[in-house]
Amino acid sequence: MADAAVIGAQWGDEGKGKIVDWLSARADVVVRFQGGHNAGHTLVIDGETYKLSLLPSGVVRKGCVGVIGSGVVVDPFALIAEIDRLAGQGVAITPDNLRIAENATLILPVHSELDQMREASAAGVKIGTTKRGIGPAYEDKAGRRGLRVVDLASPETLPAKIENLLVHHNALRRGFGEAELDAGALVDTLKEIAPKIAPFAAPVWRELDLARKAGKRILFEGAQGVLLDVDHGTYPFVTSSNTVAGQAATGSGLGPGTVDYVLGIVKAYTTRVGEGPFPTELDDDVGRRLGERGREFGVVTGRKRRCGWFDAALVRQSLKIAGVDGIALTKLDVLDGFEELKVCVGYRIGGETYDYLPAGAERQAAAAPVYETMAGWSGSTERARSWAELPAEAVKYVRRIEELIETPVALVSTSPERDDVILMRDPFQD
Ligand code: GDP
Ligand code: IMO
Ligand code: MG
Repeated sequence: MADAAVIGAQWGDEGKGKIVDWLSARADVVVRFQGGHNAGHTLVIDGETYKLSLLPSGVVRKGCVGVIGSGVVVDPFALIAEIDRLAGQGVAITPDNLRIAENATLILPVHSELDQMREASAAGVKIGTTKRGIGPAYEDKAGRRGLRVVDLASPETLPAKIENLLVHHNALRRGFGEAELDAGALVDTLKEIAPKIAPFAAPVWRELDLARKAGKRILFEGAQGVLLDVDHGTYPFVTSSNTVAGQAATGSGLGPGTVDYVLGIVKAYTTRVGEGPFPTELDDDVGRRLGERGREFGVVTGRKRRCGWFDAALVRQSLKIAGVDGIALTKLDVLDGFEELKVCVGYRIGGETYDYLPAGAERQAAAAPVYETMAGWSGSTERARSWAELPAEAVKYVRRIEELIETPVALVSTSPERDDVILMRDPFQD
């Protein structure tokens, strides 16, 4: 039985949610393995839009179990709010279709506050985070002072653990000139929310092992994208977790051989939210047209996404780093009607030519794209479900991308709707 992982291959928002939802028809279990509610994954099913942040996209499909692995940072308040929001759309989330790793780290209000203080501060590098407390929670996890989901099951241990956490946070808060926190109030709010989270807590590693033994199909759902990976992304303008496919195993408690097929999600052009280098960014009418046609506004923060041409050099690099076997090319329809299209094939940096983006924020910011120009198409690709429906120039664009990124296209997505997909190779095929 083949298990597959879906990961973003650019700076996030590639359309992972739509593809995971589509693939979940063939899966029994969908697992999130990193990130938190900084993610915003959009599903459109028969005209109804579902926006998921922390919940795996599989939960919307009946019979599919969603799992939040230990690599995820879980804000219990945001989780409950999301569960309630989905209930309002007729999707019931119960311990039968959602399991949360006992050893996942909690995001607490101190984390989002610290994230906001840093982003608002005139001192230091502004990352343009989602201000959800993701970075501070991962820092506390690595600092071995974080609280975990399992701690909610033993409320009597909370005061000492929170006191310990606040030793660190109150020192930081003093530095920012903010009021110090008292453990009591935080203990009380956690005790209040604990009974709502506890029923979902489970030894996820064990349940996934049992699922594998029973021949169930597991789909791993990545959040963010390779260029936001804390090791391999455009550091320091990245998120605080590993977003590459190897994290699917670590962040869920399974071995490195677990994932048989890695599907990289690639948008047919490029977007980025927040600060940081973006060699093919377009601050002109073409960029604005991409943003409007692609409705490029953040799901989580509502921020306008920066837009630019497809960067084949950067995507090739991402796919190699993440070990991607095939890609889903999304939002091809957004390129309908452009007279010509540019594709970045390398960079000029300080008189040197590169076919990859070298490390170092300064060099990355100085990278000038080297473009190849291709003819656009006047016909429509919107809602196409077979190759035959695509204009010849669109087929050429996809084929040229495939060549440049040295990776086959397994799927093409042509609208936000669940079933508007051209299937070339089934990621679950053995
Ligand atoms: P994710 O974070 O990778 O799941 O992506 P987001 O949901 O943040 O952003 C992708 C946006 O593009 C969402 O609004 C989707 O509904 C939409 N989308 C996904 N695939 C397609 C597609 O093929 N064509 C168009 N036009 N929109 C798409
Ligand atoms: P999905 O899963 C796009 C970006 C933020 C910021 C940087 C760090 O929907 O693709 P963080 O809050 O994680 O510390 O912010 O990462 N970022 C995303 N950009 N899509 C996402 O998720 C993102 N999650 C974080 O904008 O630049
Ligand atoms: Mg998103």
